[in-house]
Amino acid sequence: MNSEKLAEGIYWVGAIDWDIREFHGLSTLKGGTYNSYLIVDEKIVLIDAVKTTKIDVLLSNISGIVDPADIDYVISNHAEPDHSGGLARVMEIAKNARLVATPNGVRRLSEMYRLDWDILEAKDGDELAIGKRTLKFIHAPLLHWPETMFTYEGSSRILFSCDAFGAHIATSERFTDEVGVEKTLAFAKKYYAFLVAPFRKNVIKALDKTKELKIDVIAPSHGPVWRSDLDMITGAYQKWANRDFEDKATIIYGTMWGNTHKMAAAVAEGLADGGMKVRVYNVQLTLPSEIVDEIFDSRLVLIGSSTFVGGIYPPVEAFIPFMRVIRDKSKKVASFGSYGWSGGSIKKLDKLLEEEGYDVMEPGLALQFEPTADGLKECFEFGRRAAAWTIGSA
Ligand code: FEO
Repeated sequence: MNSEKLAEGIYWVGAIDWDIREFHGLSTLKGGTYNSYLIVDEKIVLIDAVKTTKIDVLLSNISGIVDPADIDYVISNHAEPDHSGGLARVMEIAKNARLVATPNGVRRLSEMYRLDWDILEAKDGDELAIGKRTLKFIHAPLLHWPETMFTYEGSSRILFSCDAFGAHIATSERFTDEVGVEKTLAFAKKYYAFLVAPFRKNVIKALDKTKELKIDVIAPSHGPVWRSDLDMITGAYQKWANRDFEDKATIIYGTMWGNTHKMAAAVAEGLADGGMKVRVYNVQLTLPSEIVDEIFDSRLVLIGSSTFVGGIYPPVEAFIPFMRVIRDKSKKVASFGSYGWSGGSIKKLDKLLEEEGYDVMEPGLALQFEPTADGLKECFEFGRRAAAWTIGSA
């Protein structure tokens, strides 16, 4: 039994998942949490219902405060199974509870669970009196599914924001000031890059809507709760949504014999000499979402590939779809790589990147076998040119 008081009558009652290491493509190397919240007023309200595998934890946490059978309203801010998996059990136990969701949420939940629940549709701006408190529902579509909404509790000024402002990190501490603001922000960025980045226009709209509210606490559905430094997370969201990024370049490469690796190192030196911050990742050694986290806030992405059977080295080709995750075609790109007795990878890589809609700097740099001293100079100059091209386009 585990809960945490956020304010008088308002509790975190969610579940910690210490073991999760992969969340539909996002690497969760430090685990995660599925946050649910309980509000005890004249009516008893549960906000979101954890993943199916954690329903017993949720019910146990609620039982430490009230009898789950006494819940009057179950609010579904988001229909994705990590927040709705436990709904069927909760609704079975809380026989008189009404489920609250956006009209789109009602549709999704009906499609997903095919159960005959008593459902209250929450339109944008609707309010629900639950005693001394009134809850307000704020539609926030695509954060991160089409049906998502925020729930706002005005007397304690808490915004229950579901996926928005969340972070996948498992900790016994419930608040960002305990976990560490910078640490939480790093995980929030990784989460944003992989799940929220494609919907940046919706982020801007949601931020505008919440400006009308007085908010002292942001309680997301993953990771620690923000009860201080709120401008750190809202400011970060604004910056990320505006694509307000530093002059940073990420090099991604795959290498068969280490020659493309040597090219990557020399290109990195040229980029740094040209004034860019640089990150370098071998796709064969790194989980894709760890790289997505870096390319998300890079202005330039350089992709290196050995030639394999006259084409792109498969581990590099397999990474290209992950670049689609962030849907940011404003990034500059260029390619490079080593080949042996036949070339081919770079032409195909450039063509693929152009077909994806990226602005490719120039035909990629291809060198045969191990780069010579002159070849490494070419790589360095290639990096310098890419830096000047990117910084000059700001
Ligand atoms: Fe936490 Fe979009 O689910």
